[in-house]
Amino acid sequence: MAGSTLTIKDLHVAIDGKEILKGVNLEIKGGEIHAIMGPNGTGKSTLSSAIMGHPKYEVTSGTITLDGQNVLEMEVDERARAGLFLAMQYPSEINGVTNADFLRSALNSRLGEGNEISLMKFIRKMDKQMEYLEMDLDMAQRYLNEGFSGGEKKRNEILQLMMLEPKIAILDEIDSGLDIDALKVVSKGINQMRGGDFGCLVITHYQRLLNYITPDHVHVMMQGRVVKSGGAELAQRLEAEGYDWIKQELGIEDETVGQEA
Ligand SMILES: Nc1ncnc2c1ncn2[C@@H]1O[C@H](COP(=O)(O)OP(=O)(O)O)[C@@H](O)[C@H]1O
Ligand SMILES: [Mg+2]
Repeated sequence: MAGSTLTIKDLHVAIDGKEILKGVNLEIKGGEIHAIMGPNGTGKSTLSSAIMGHPKYEVTSGTITLDGQNVLEMEVDERARAGLFLAMQYPSEINGVTNADFLRSALNSRLGEGNEISLMKFIRKMDKQMEYLEMDLDMAQRYLNEGFSGGEKKRNEILQLMMLEPKIAILDEIDSGLDIDALKVVSKGINQMRGGDFGCLVITHYQRLLNYITPDHVHVMMQGRVVKSGGAELAQRLEAEGYDWIKQELGIEDETVGQEA
């Protein structure tokens, strides 16, 4: 089976009437790993929230399609069922729902009616992935994200990724707040998903993660647009030289767009 393609064309997104994304173009194909880098407050998280259909993020123009299907017409759960996955920068805590129950219902929803996974198979698969991610098996029975440390939340997002096996994943700051061991484990999970048909957009403020996951494409986002794209070497140059050279190259004024949400 050929991989899926997520296509974003001239996307404009507003929050409370204020335009944040000002014409984003991006195409992610199955089998590819893309990285988006950029200063704080330039709209990286806004892009991921808009792709997943967060109601606060209003798409004012432009298109998002998955294999030609109009994503913008889909409800949030339909987007997940269609094979999109978002690891949020700040995963929510859900009191009263265990991690295992959450994962199982998310997985069954993804697999669709009539194709649900048996409880035994589910437990086996989850245990295997938790071991791979060096997670304490007790975490399965804890309420989702409640009291999880920053690193545990991020590992748990990768557990969800490995369980749900989406077509296209967007990982927003999956590396922030991780110590080096956790960073290695998280990268190991992403790299295991890599290859085949899995497409991934990694959003990161730092180049550090990209030492472990070599992206096929790197994009720089500034002031609500993708202003530059290149290969893995672009991330290295950003790490060494920061963003000023891009601003100069493009003649971008050094205005503050906003603060990180
Ligand atoms: N839920 C929100 N409510 C109001 N403003 C927001 C919200 N989310 C983001 N913003 C604003 O949108 C801009 C872009 O934020 P964000 O997409 O989080 O940037 P990044 O992820 O690149 O740091 C910022 O000015 C931020 O304050
Ligand atoms: Mg962000």
